Amino acid sequence: MWIKNAWYAAAFSDAVTVDPVPVTLLDTPMVLFRGDGGRLAVLEDRCPHRSVPLSFGRRVGNTIRCRYHGLQVDTTGACVRIPCQERIPRGAKVKTYPVIERHGLVWIWMGQPEGADEASVPDFSYLDDPAWTACVGYHFVEADYRLINDNLLDLSHESYVHDTTIGNDAVAQAPVSVERTQTQLRVHRTILKCDPPPFYVKATGFTEPINRWHTTIFTPPATHIIENGSYPATASRNQALERRVLHAISPATRTSSHYFWGVARQYRRGDAALTEYIRTQTAATFDQDKEILELQQQALARSGKPPFSLAFETDSGPIQARRMIDQLVASEAAPVPAPAGDNAGTLRSISAQLRSYP
Ligand SMILES: [Fe+2]
Repeated sequence: MWIKNAWYAAAFSDAVTVDPVPVTLLDTPMVLFRGDGGRLAVLEDRCPHRSVPLSFGRRVGNTIRCRYHGLQVDTTGACVRIPCQERIPRGAKVKTYPVIERHGLVWIWMGQPEGADEASVPDFSYLDDPAWTACVGYHFVEADYRLINDNLLDLSHESYVHDTTIGNDAVAQAPVSVERTQTQLRVHRTILKCDPPPFYVKATGFTEPINRWHTTIFTPPATHIIENGSYPATASRNQALERRVLHAISPATRTSSHYFWGVARQYRRGDAALTEYIRTQTAATFDQDKEILELQQQALARSGKPPFSLAFETDSGPIQARRMIDQLVASEAAPVPAPAGDNAGTLRSISAQLRSYP
């Protein structure tokens, strides 16, 4: 079920300081630590001696020292010291993983190291672009990462899950359009002359009816950038206040996920109180998602039902995202050339998808 040839967010950079940090991605326990000069390394989280997690150890110079018998492993994964003997056995090493820090996040490549293309790190530059002001947060969600993708690709749930923050009835009633390209999916919704939901009133100052839009841009396996804007229905679109909501979801296990998020805005950029309001309200909004997603995960596990026992037209985005993931997983297992014209941006009808989706 995993796409391995991808960069996955593993931590915020400033969360990895002196102590080794354990992180599990794709059911693989790893440890992050900073060696000499602050350079980040990612190792298999297992002492090659007796398998105690290295993340339980201590950083010593350019190494982690295992807390059990003192073996030291450096940033290349090689054992460089065994306290009780001079000789270091040839097999005394652990696996390493390509890692890169960009825009305040640590990204780990889980596929073959030679395939780790730095140009393919998801573009989260809104987080440190001087033209935007951003806040960030993290949730651990005990649900399959694909359920979180589903959630972000059908924002009609805002009307019901988030009626105290970003949603109201108008969201679910507005039609969506879905556009698929070779590498991305874009799900768009424009909502005209709607009452501003509670978050919008405080975060924008608009109290009269507004026009608003959101476009979720999904890149497999699990990054989403939601372009969002709103303006008074009596004004023109060039008066819109815009935000970008960034989501990097990394599977921890088959039924749990790391969820890194950020919100960037292009207005009232120096207003620290507004930044804090957006951060706390976004965290509260994603708490609501977490609750629903974990209930859904538990119910699916109990029932053994597929995730789409019944699909609405608004499930087109989530279903197509799952198809993109399935295709990438299959292509990693047995690389085959894509059929010509398959990614021309044309959409399969939802009924065809439902016939073929399990
Ligand atoms: Fe949500």
